[in-house]
Amino acid sequence: MADRRFLVTAALPYSNGRLHVGHIAGAYLPADTYARYLRATGANVRFICGSDDNGVAALKTAREQDRTVEELTAHFSRSQRADFDGLNIEFDIYGGTHQPEFVETHERLSQEFFLRIYEKDLFTKRRTHQLYDAEAGQFLPDRFVRGTCPHCSSDRAFGDQCEDCGRSVEQNELIDPVSMMTGSKPELRETVHWYLRLDELQSRLASWLSEKRDTEACGAHWRPIVLNQSLGRIEAEGLPERAMTRDLTWGVPVPLDDPDAEGKSLYVWFDAPIGYVSFTAAHCEKLGEGAEAYARWWKDPDCKIVHFIGEDNIVFHAITWPAMLLATHDSDSVQGLSGEYQLPHNVVSNSFLNIKFPGKEEEKISKSRGTAVWIEDYLQTFDPDPLRYYLTAIAPENSRAAFDIDDFIARNNGELVNAFGNFINRTMTFAHKYFEGRVPEAGSYKDIDTEHIERCALAAKRTAEELDLCHFKAALAEVMVLARAGNGYFDSTKPFMSRKTDMDACGRAIHVCLRTARTLTTLIAPFMPSTAERCAKMLNLEGDWRRWSSATDDLSPGHALGEPEILIKKLDSKELFAD
Ligand code: MF3
Ligand code: ZN
Repeated sequence: MADRRFLVTAALPYSNGRLHVGHIAGAYLPADTYARYLRATGANVRFICGSDDNGVAALKTAREQDRTVEELTAHFSRSQRADFDGLNIEFDIYGGTHQPEFVETHERLSQEFFLRIYEKDLFTKRRTHQLYDAEAGQFLPDRFVRGTCPHCSSDRAFGDQCEDCGRSVEQNELIDPVSMMTGSKPELRETVHWYLRLDELQSRLASWLSEKRDTEACGAHWRPIVLNQSLGRIEAEGLPERAMTRDLTWGVPVPLDDPDAEGKSLYVWFDAPIGYVSFTAAHCEKLGEGAEAYARWWKDPDCKIVHFIGEDNIVFHAITWPAMLLATHDSDSVQGLSGEYQLPHNVVSNSFLNIKFPGKEEEKISKSRGTAVWIEDYLQTFDPDPLRYYLTAIAPENSRAAFDIDDFIARNNGELVNAFGNFINRTMTFAHKYFEGRVPEAGSYKDIDTEHIERCALAAKRTAEELDLCHFKAALAEVMVLARAGNGYFDSTKPFMSRKTDMDACGRAIHVCLRTARTLTTLIAPFMPSTAERCAKMLNLEGDWRRWSSATDDLSPGHALGEPEILIKKLDSKELFAD
């Protein structure tokens, strides 16, 4: 088979706090599911993530918590990584834009990237006025200043973006700005910054994005939310230049031999997406291929780059980042030449996830109000798979959804235990009890058997079709349809009756059920990897059972099965989030 290559990324989380279910549902779980599925189809996949350490977010938290920013980001980079491990979200590499192992390569590639754009004359150097905190003795980039939004009048706007309307905000447009450092009223002082000529890149970006409206033509299914927010933005307001440097020393130093560049760093949204590239390079290095081998993933039109992100990252991944990539190109064409950075094949974004605690109204997840379910807490009591199941089953793919604690329990105990777990368990137990733990002979299939086996093949096909389109929720639903059909088949063929009257018929039914269990094992693996592993162990599957094309393989009569165990546990809401 031709070498199908995919570079899959999940948004680099800021290393200034813990992860909650909203983060996982937004980007990391769908990305992991997709990467696992692609590998199952035989594709060559790199799955890249790491912490976003630079910029104001970490600095601000470090100040609040009275820690050094190095210590803070090292701590959270590590703890977030442990959360991902606990959820079986399995990256090929987990880097960090300012972590000791990665910072050198990251700075080098970020600076090269900046210089490349600089040479292409796509930065404007501008003398401007920026908000300055005289008490703290420093400029106030981005989240260091807060005020009233010029677009929606909310008072929850910062120097980069408004929390309420999500629009981007220039700090000079903020109404009644207040310094987050000292609470004082900042003054304007002169400074110099480098602005990316988004205006110059706008028409190429717009035509590239418009092509994505046509799934057939571009070969990827771009979600409406992504196109609406990006193209919509361009059509409504056009793209003004944006400063890509900041008056900060925490970050990647601006690589210009210019006294005006002193004490300045690249804007965190400039260097962070380059983290995807620099971590790929670090991974290539680790594999002994040398850092430059990253080009095989980033600069080869045959490799598909797919970014998974949350809603608040859309503009950066569908406008700013592609603009940066385009800005490095030699030619004017949107499609980079071989050897140039390729634009993303798809940018997959979910909407926000709300939360609903028992007896309360649905609300926004909020750190400060304590309305979150933290991954660390969840993993102290529970296995990863019930959460993976639930977050996919309710995935906020086309609109907002809510993590409803009662619904989480109900779906685990209802759908997962009753449909999936029950089917596997009754099949396994039966085979052990009446067929000495071996796969019985199938004999000759009757219509009901052939029909059911066709249903297995159809489920594998449909699940794959949905996964190819990044419709994870629909894909999981297809798997559950098969689990229910398995139960239906078991009920209609009644092996529990035929075992007394017709052992051949009984064996045939159990054979088909075991085959179905085998299919389900492969199909559920991208969603619930550890459950799939336990199924595979019970079925005693050998070889690469995750391979999608093997999902409908038959089992040989006489094949010895593993020990049956309870596959999915019932959960009690009292154990959950008791506070
Ligand atoms: N740290 C950002 C956030 O959590 C995401 C950065 S994604 C990257 O919203 F592409 F810039 F790395
Ligand atoms: Zn606003």
